[in-house]
Amino acid sequence: MKHKINYEFEDHYDYEEEFGRYKDRRKPKGRRSVKDLKLKDDKKLSSVDEFDDPNLQDLYEQGILTEIIREIKSGKEATVYLADGKYGLMAAKIYRDEATRAFSKDQIYKAGRHISHQHKKKLLNLASQNQIKPEQSLWIYHEYKTIWEFYRAGINVPKPLIGPSIHDIAKAGRVVLMQYIGNKDEAAPRLSDLNLNQKEAQDAWEQSFAILKEVLSLGKVHGDFSTYNLLWWNNKAILIDFPQVVNINENKHAKEILKTDLNSLSKSFQALGVDKDPIQLYKELQNELGPLF
Ligand SMILES: Nc1ncnc2c1ncn2[C@@H]1O[C@H](COP(=O)(O)OP(=O)(O)O)[C@@H](O)[C@H]1O
Ligand SMILES: [Mg+2]
Repeated sequence: MKHKINYEFEDHYDYEEEFGRYKDRRKPKGRRSVKDLKLKDDKKLSSVDEFDDPNLQDLYEQGILTEIIREIKSGKEATVYLADGKYGLMAAKIYRDEATRAFSKDQIYKAGRHISHQHKKKLLNLASQNQIKPEQSLWIYHEYKTIWEFYRAGINVPKPLIGPSIHDIAKAGRVVLMQYIGNKDEAAPRLSDLNLNQKEAQDAWEQSFAILKEVLSLGKVHGDFSTYNLLWWNNKAILIDFPQVVNINENKHAKEILKTDLNSLSKSFQALGVDKDPIQLYKELQNELGPLF
């Protein structure tokens, strides 16, 4: 199978140099609650001051985000909040400012990644203004870029609500704003949270594996494909969580990453009573899509 190269991103990520020079002037913050994101009344200098975080404040001033309603889920690197604003209910994935990614593993996922010089310049300028580490801003940019590519290809993912312009993405800083999956009372569960009957579980499997194939047909491997990153809402599977997605053409580890994804997917589906052999699945993909690597 031939994959299209995206020529918009010509240069290699060669930002180690910048990391070395970067000095984080702020103390790392721990987990933040909704309360911590908002400014206390005595800190407000004017009526438009609302959020402590400069990126949230900027989205607030643009009228895109008017309120953070509650926390949906807190993970290792980011917390996802239910937010309200211009597009109604939205999911705001907000990365914390301490570096928590395991560095050695990062190298595998970012190997061969490309970004144009202009884009990189824009991103890193705004990142430094907002005191965001260059590496973190590149991961978040990669997440936005990927979610836009998947969304435009018609893959079942939440619609990104910032971008696709590099300027808007860079300005959003640590905030990944996207379509919220759920209703006002509850966020969509992950497939890993559910007990499904046999018929539903089979349906969920077929949809999930179909999504994995669609991602592969775009020349990508998700890199963390399991029931922990698949939401289930109105009997539809929706893929989330994109910073670690790799491009088959760029990343020499893509084949291993795909094999790991097939393992994680089949292993995590065992809890739903679906038993699949990852080796068979790999063969099936090769038969259907042709030689992938
Ligand atoms: N668009 C969304 N709508 C509803 N819930 C979401 C959405 N995106 C993420 N979540 C919830 O937040 C959790 C964490 O998001 P995810 O992108 O997987 O980040 P991470 O696993 O890196 O912490 C998900 O497992 C899911 O429960
Ligand atoms: Mg996740």
